[in-house]
Amino acid sequence: MDLFEYQARDMFEAGAVPVLRGIVADTPEAAAMAAAELGPVVVVKAQVKTGGRGKAGGVKLARSPGEAFEFASQILGMDIKGHKVRQVMVAEGADIAEEYYFSLLLDRTTGKYLALCSREGGMAIEALAVERPDALARVVIDPLTGLDAAAAEEVVTAAGFAVADRGRIAEVLVKLGEVYRNNDATLVEVNPLVKTGDGRIIALDGKVTLDGNAEFRHPEWAEYADVAAEDPLEVSAKAKGLNYVKLDGSVGIIGNGAGLVMSTLDVVARAGADLPGQPRPANFLDIGGGASAQVMADGLEIILSDPQVKSVFVNVFGGITACSEVAKGIIDALKMLGEKDTKPIVVRLDGNSVEVGRHILAEAAHPLVRVEKTMDAAARKAAELAAEGE
Ligand SMILES: Nc1ncnc2c1ncn2[C@@H]1O[C@H](COP(=O)(O)OP(=O)(O)OP(=O)(O)O)[C@@H](O)[C@H]1O
Ligand SMILES: [Mg+2]
Repeated sequence: MDLFEYQARDMFEAGAVPVLRGIVADTPEAAAMAAAELGPVVVVKAQVKTGGRGKAGGVKLARSPGEAFEFASQILGMDIKGHKVRQVMVAEGADIAEEYYFSLLLDRTTGKYLALCSREGGMAIEALAVERPDALARVVIDPLTGLDAAAAEEVVTAAGFAVADRGRIAEVLVKLGEVYRNNDATLVEVNPLVKTGDGRIIALDGKVTLDGNAEFRHPEWAEYADVAAEDPLEVSAKAKGLNYVKLDGSVGIIGNGAGLVMSTLDVVARAGADLPGQPRPANFLDIGGGASAQVMADGLEIILSDPQVKSVFVNVFGGITACSEVAKGIIDALKMLGEKDTKPIVVRLDGNSVEVGRHILAEAAHPLVRVEKTMDAAARKAAELAAEGE
């Protein structure tokens, strides 16, 4: 989970990393008021979860509340690499003498942390890494000790900072290492980390990625939920505890087990490739093992409320769960949904108690449900029905 810059700023502040004051605004009026409070010079910064805001015109220096108003009007509503700007942060202007780069990240291939640091920070760090890799120090950090004072010393030395600056910068890096560890982050990046005219080291920008696997022990992360940017169907699926990801096709998919669902996506995409409109999967939805009628109903309800969906493919391999239970679940789910259900559903059942399951579906003879024996045939049928529904 990525944080907005202002959230990273708050996290840095809580961890005693030096930052400048900042106020979030979602209207030009609020930005002007923030500028009046923070002035005389402020920066108005687009809050979007993508890099390169400066280059896109999303970071502007304002010398008066009026200018802050102007810039906020331009930046709010802007589209930066597909991210709509809904908020700006108005931050105190810094007297920048030098701009550095620092990041600490999880290196999954080595199972260690990696610290990256350069005296030449600012906006073109990606280019620097490619063109002059020597200017970017890379130091492997042992996760058991973390970025302690000794490791920070190693980083600032490798980056070639002036001896007089090393101590102060290393101190800030240690704090950033604590932020990284205490918040279960997989990335903490500061670009630029600056030295001001009066010699202070300040984090002027912050990017933090949190490890989703640690969410269970961070109830405070609830406030980071970015509902505006999330797909509404994904939000309601999450509320129902479903493992659902919205895709952009027209064939709704329900399966049990992530592996089966992923291969179902492939098979449907292949089945639809030579049909008119080339129907593709509309979603990923894994209802897991032991799926009850309620889970099936919740899943079908989410999928059927996606206006792009023209047909649904239920692909279940009965393991621990008997196909008979799944078949009952489908029938019960359709009863629960009643009128809401208007799209054809192709069912493929196999495995444990498959004959009983198919029999239950045949008996029920629901007008929208048809059973296919193989995954390929069912995928083909679902794709055809989606193509017809276009
Ligand atoms: N508070 C500030 N005071 C003065 N100048 C600033 C301030 N914040 C940013 N800047 C200047 O603007 C530049 C770009 O800002 P910032 O790093 O926040 O955005 P960015 O690098 O374009 O965004 P991203 O890091 O998302 O790519 C900085 O390198 C710095 O020169
Ligand atoms: Mg930056």
